[in-house]
Amino acid sequence: MKIMVTGSNGLLGQKLIHALVQRSDLELIATARGTNRLQAQAGYTYYSLDVREQAQVLELCLALKPDVIIHTAAMTQVDDCEDQQEACWKLNVTAVAHLIEACDAINAHLVHLSTDFIFDGAAGPYDEMAAANPLSFYGKSKLAAEKLLLDSSISYAIIRTVLVYGVAEDMSRSNIVLWAKSALEKGQPLRIVSDQFRTPTLAEDLASGCILAATQRAQGIYNISGKDQMSVLELVKRVAAYFDLSTDQISEVSTDELNQKARRPKITGFVLDKARRELGYEPHSFEEGIALVMSQTAQ
Ligand SMILES: NC(=O)c1ccc[n+]([C@@H]2O[C@H](COP(=O)([O-])OP(=O)(O)OC[C@H]3O[C@@H](n4cnc5c(N)ncnc54)[C@H](OP(=O)(O)O)[C@@H]3O)[C@@H](O)[C@H]2O)c1
Repeated sequence: MKIMVTGSNGLLGQKLIHALVQRSDLELIATARGTNRLQAQAGYTYYSLDVREQAQVLELCLALKPDVIIHTAAMTQVDDCEDQQEACWKLNVTAVAHLIEACDAINAHLVHLSTDFIFDGAAGPYDEMAAANPLSFYGKSKLAAEKLLLDSSISYAIIRTVLVYGVAEDMSRSNIVLWAKSALEKGQPLRIVSDQFRTPTLAEDLASGCILAATQRAQGIYNISGKDQMSVLELVKRVAAYFDLSTDQISEVSTDELNQKARRPKITGFVLDKARRELGYEPHSFEEGIALVMSQTAQ
């Protein structure tokens, strides 16, 4: 099986490349915009691909004919999406249309990444059948991309995930666990939101869920996240406890007090029964995830 990954310089993209390169039964193609920023460049081929460019997407797919495409590239900063709506739509929606067109042309299976931000957070944790109602432009764009897939005739899996954390090389953005550890170590005052609940996801677990869906050519929607639901405040306190750092500087704030540009859903997190049953997915606990992150930062 030949697997192509988009956005291979991103957090999930990197984890996918590191995991897939170990698989001698698979042929791997990494793609990202610009140059390959991964240190390890053996065992796969790399192509520069801007997924917003329809002709580029089609041309590369016709030339390489992957069996499966795992599409991770996206505009993922929620407040940026609110500010730059046209750019967000082009990357999060129109590019998916290009990939659907290419998959249709070469009969490839598309594994597409989506988010808990398609929900309004009134009734989490959510299963795959729950009704979406996005609060932010990011959420709207990701839901619109899901609809393109639902309305298409290609073979696809939608992988929805939640608050991804992990260590990657040359990160263009941080994530909650790394940020919390570093801020707690500095002992600076922290305002942490206490009424947003999530099932934070270890990037390695998300990659394993995507690979299970890709190799099984799984059909439909799957929740792939961590298994422990907690508030963001509890998350930061659990990071502090793990690293034996003081929580004295933490003050609790509400979503309303934070007043972020894009609205966030309050209670999300996912029910994982379907992914466990159909894909054989089993995530680490949150503390196991932090332990893995720590072992990687110590390297
Ligand atoms: N991270 C989360 O908490 C979270 C939660 C729910 C869902 N998701 C979804 O999971 C997926 C993966 O997220 P992630 O955490 O791996 O995000 P990420 O680290 O921000 O990676 C996204 C990658 O997309 C690349 N990209 C941007 N524009 C591109 C273009 N025009 N062509 C090709 N690549 C482009 C970026 O390239 P540069 O590195 O060059 O900027 C970046 O490497 C996304 O679909 C996201 O919506 C993420």
